Amino acid sequence: MCGIIGYVGARPAEEILLAGLRKLEYRGYDSAGLSVLADGTIRAVRAVGNLDHLEAALAQEDALVPPATIGIAHTRWATHGAVSEQNAHPLCDAEGRIHVVVNGIVENYVGLRDRLTAAGATFSSQTDAEVIAQLIASEYDGDLAATVQHALGQLDGFFAFVAMALDEPDVLVGARRECPLVIGRGTDESFVASAVPAFLAHTRSTQLIENGEIVVLRAGEVEIRDANGAPVERELLEITWDADTAEKGGYETFMLKEIHDQADALAETINDRTVRRDGVDLAEECFDESLLEGIERVVFVACGTAYHAGLMGRYAIEEWAELPVEVDVASEYRYRNPLVGPRDLVVGISQSGETADTLGAMRVARERGARVVALTNVMGSQATRECDGVLYTRAGLEIGVAATKTFVAQLAVVYLLALRLAELRGTLSAERRAELVAALRRLPQNVEELLDGLDEQVDQISQWCWQANFFLYIGRHAGVPIALEGALKLKEISYISTDAYAAGEMKHGPIAMLDEHTPVVAVATTSPVLTKVVNNIQEVAARGAKVIAMTTAGDHTVDAHVKATVPVPASDPMLEPLLAVIPLQLLAYKIAMRRGLNPDQPRNLAKTVTVE
Ligand code: F6R
Repeated sequence: MCGIIGYVGARPAEEILLAGLRKLEYRGYDSAGLSVLADGTIRAVRAVGNLDHLEAALAQEDALVPPATIGIAHTRWATHGAVSEQNAHPLCDAEGRIHVVVNGIVENYVGLRDRLTAAGATFSSQTDAEVIAQLIASEYDGDLAATVQHALGQLDGFFAFVAMALDEPDVLVGARRECPLVIGRGTDESFVASAVPAFLAHTRSTQLIENGEIVVLRAGEVEIRDANGAPVERELLEITWDADTAEKGGYETFMLKEIHDQADALAETINDRTVRRDGVDLAEECFDESLLEGIERVVFVACGTAYHAGLMGRYAIEEWAELPVEVDVASEYRYRNPLVGPRDLVVGISQSGETADTLGAMRVARERGARVVALTNVMGSQATRECDGVLYTRAGLEIGVAATKTFVAQLAVVYLLALRLAELRGTLSAERRAELVAALRRLPQNVEELLDGLDEQVDQISQWCWQANFFLYIGRHAGVPIALEGALKLKEISYISTDAYAAGEMKHGPIAMLDEHTPVVAVATTSPVLTKVVNNIQEVAARGAKVIAMTTAGDHTVDAHVKATVPVPASDPMLEPLLAVIPLQLLAYKIAMRRGLNPDQPRNLAKTVTVE
């Protein structure tokens, strides 16, 4: 997740770009930069930290005279390469003639960098973005649009970028594959950006760019070309949202936007780690895979939602990698006498990387000689500084207090870790690993399919249950963490009392709570114990409770016993629960909205819990 913007027109570009970046800052803020061009000179300024740092850096250097009226800018959420000025965008070739800003990941950047290096290029950053700049520069012959088009054909991955050339001071070229990029059409000026809010103060007239297309922008002129270079006619869209809605991507709240962002969060987290057909690669500058060698146990420590991701890790690692796994809430682990040592891999899961108890638990484990890994969404967070390796989720900044997209990204990383361990330990055949890699790579598409029409479906369910004052959530096997997470979502944003249980525990107490007023939410996706879940659903239904079941598309085993089903796309039984959590997030959301509550800011909760 990064934010990019380009401007070409008649007004001073710097101010327009900076104001645009402010509107994109939610997409990342670990560094920022801009390049503007006037009178044969490019002024490029970059700074680590948020936009205030960039503004300070700009104030220290002489502005161009006359002021530039063309430029590109970026606010970064680091994926490849540490948070540093060198890795901040815009990136350029060694002579500074081609500048680019990029959002996303170029999966084959190592091969391209090696090829360009062999041909004499020298690189000054660790980013895949610089590879794009150098590739364009190596082929540039005075026609930026044609060169970008050709370069695009050589790039694998999912990204959007905008390029500017010193030798063509009146043109910007944008390219899009999967990551967002939209055009803003003004009178005598043109914009291109990751999201509409970046230019909404100047124009409400936009055009979309489809995958594989490039866009050539001049002041007041825009030309879209398809993958073969042929011009494309694209209708103009008038944006009617107010500024507040625009920041939420047109959604009514950040939480709803983030629920709908989950396919992207998964693609960013999974894709470049699953380039091999039958395996996962976790090695990065911040993670040395030797950490995984010879371990005898994995321990997950975390709080809240992140703890639920750890529970899923237990099912996946025990099943695929045949390694013992322990999971504990960090606030308990840190004050136990945990028996942990050098053969243990202790994974602290924390979206923010700042949760005091998780940091405390990681410290205890480290002091006792364990290998400690941070699984986090935030580069440079405290957890990343107090560990032996970092596994990042790449969900982008999450603003809604209730975790949604960071949770599915955490699940993705624990699955990836389990699969990598399975390969290192030889516990799964290459064929089975290939099946799981393929299933993981399909998850973003599964999520897209699931979200299509889900809003209305879940809204209808919420219509009959939003006034209930108690909900029970049940599941078995990998459905248990999802039942727990569904219950947590509902209680934190709707303030409704919930309980979540492994369904087999029902008869040992919770069944006493049930009557005809109780909605029971069951995770009943494919599983080795689905028949047992069905038995539990029947028991619940016999007490008059109204069951809402998350099922696998095509499976109708529970239909006769429940009031509503929400089918999720078929995947691997271990992965379907990840899909099942999405309707549960949405159910909590719909109920909160019906109760007139603001899901983005639930009472008594904070996004980051830095005190124990
Ligand atoms: C629930 C939620 C919290 C967090 C918990 C840990 O929606 O967001 O339960 O999961 O506070 O936070 P991190 O992951 O930042 O350590």
